[in-house]
Amino acid sequence: MDIRQATIDDLLGMQNANLLNLPENYTFKYYLYHALTWPELSYVAVDPAGRIVGYILAKMEEDPASEPSGHVTSISVLRPYRRLGLANRLMKQAQQAMVAHYNAAFITLHVRKSNRAAISLYRDALGFEVHAMEKGYYADGEDAYGMRFVFKAKD
Ligand code: ACO
Repeated sequence: MDIRQATIDDLLGMQNANLLNLPENYTFKYYLYHALTWPELSYVAVDPAGRIVGYILAKMEEDPASEPSGHVTSISVLRPYRRLGLANRLMKQAQQAMVAHYNAAFITLHVRKSNRAAISLYRDALGFEVHAMEKGYYADGEDAYGMRFVFKAKD
């Protein structure tokens, strides 16, 4: 499976994967906003026929008062393609790009408290830490963990 930078032409496939995989969905305009504003930060995993089987939609925080930091808006992999290391690779690509292009000091994301697979990916495989618990963050009232990965100088 190939991992490559997402293009405008990939956005519908990313949105489709997101709709299949997660209850947190976004307007097409929001995908476009990511791709036009931070084109280096979003990636797709594609099968040999070129179909999108996973994606990471990522951005930089826009608050100029704080040091530059990246944010993962959404990441998911279609069910038959899970546990192949794709999310791990997608995240590492986005992390590298955040440092290379925007000098990111750290990266943040939100995850449902009940999402054991994603929490294990972030904490155990990638080294993120929980830095906050946000009560009732999601539309259905579930709490979120705010997670953070701080880049070391060499990252
Ligand atoms: N159970 C336990 N640990 C897991 C699981 C799981 N089901 N899935 C991944 N992990 C951990 C393991 O440590 C794994 O390493 P290992 O396979 O060597 O044990 C490591 O994460 C890397 O796994 P990947 O194969 O890279 O992960 P995958 O490509 O399967 O994608 C993901 C993981 C994105 C969470 C996938 O299960 C998915 O799409 N889930 C539905 C959507 C979702 O929950 N997305 C995250 C929402 S939060 C957000 O978007 C910011």
